[in-house]
Amino acid sequence: MMRLAVFASGAGSNFAAICDANVPGVEVALLFCDRPKARVLGLAEERGVPTLCFQPSACATRDEYERAIVDMVEEAQIDVIALAGYMRIIHQPLLDAFAGRIINIHPSLLPSFPGKDAIGQAFEAGVDTTGVTVHFVDSGIDTGPIIAQVPVKMCADRETLEEAVHSAEHELYPKVIEQLAREW
Ligand code: GRF
Repeated sequence: MMRLAVFASGAGSNFAAICDANVPGVEVALLFCDRPKARVLGLAEERGVPTLCFQPSACATRDEYERAIVDMVEEAQIDVIALAGYMRIIHQPLLDAFAGRIINIHPSLLPSFPGKDAIGQAFEAGVDTTGVTVHFVDSGIDTGPIIAQVPVKMCADRETLEEAVHSAEHELYPKVIEQLAREW
């Protein structure tokens, strides 16, 4: 079994999709959250996934915060970390401890539209096609080697595009995690 930790800060629809896919060879062993009011915490409790909620304000420095996270994640014997709407940049302590073992999902065809509100950026740009990317995490924002991408056709309004991109995410992320587990 590959022991997976999901890191999330918000709504948690990708977290739920990963759990509900019952990915073969994968145990969702931890939900790490940096925001105590995030909806994702309730989704984890409903699914019986152990949660850790730990805010940066608990630590004096950014590195101290990350070192504390590394200790917690190692204590939980986690193999791979999947970021799913985790609104913090990953820094050296975590990157070193989990080199090549942290992945992220981003709602665009990277390298197009990195950063915040990628769906809105694509909509405003009026591209024909946008999509979803899963990639390994490095010290940049939505950079790092691409693992998989799926295209999504542009929609007439932003809300419909958001729905289409999110449902593509919910299909792609469990598949990529299954692939990683097969190679684990
Ligand atoms: C997703 O669109 C993901 O690609 C991006 O943040 C959003 C998180 O949504 N990184 P949710 O919390 O999984 O519902």
